[in-house]
Amino acid sequence: MPAGDLALATEARQQPGCTIHVCTACRRQREDLPEGYDQPGLALAEALGARMTGSGIAVVPVECLAVCKRPCTIALAADGKWTYLIGDLDAGLHLDEIVGAAESFAASANGIVPWKERPASFRKGVVARVPPLRAFRSTGIGRTTRIRAHEIL
Ligand code: FES
Repeated sequence: MPAGDLALATEARQQPGCTIHVCTACRRQREDLPEGYDQPGLALAEALGARMTGSGIAVVPVECLAVCKRPCTIALAADGKWTYLIGDLDAGLHLDEIVGAAESFAASANGIVPWKERPASFRKGVVARVPPLRAFRSTGIGRTTRIRAHEIL
């Protein structure tokens, strides 16, 4: 991880809400451009950064979230919460929905936002969710035990 990204990630951990990781490396096909592609995550990260200033929600650009064929891609993450990976986002169409989803995620106890409260782009674009590290604990014999939702702080 480059030193600048590490500093941003460290700073993000100190934010009380959550972190929106935005892939800025995804390439979207654009026949109208000489390069044949653009990188829409750059504009999304910038727009989200401006919207989230002072909100307690950090925006951290990253170089790949391994969902390269579904730009733009973001990850919503916070200590002790499920992490959500969401693709197929467009800064021009979904900025308000991403802001709303991040606020709901930050307000949730464990990162799970009820389905009905998720904006359409969140519902359609979810690629994966990953449990918080504290969701499982070792039994000390090579097996893990699931911790119930109410045990996750
Ligand atoms: S380049 Fe964006 S997810 Fe891989």
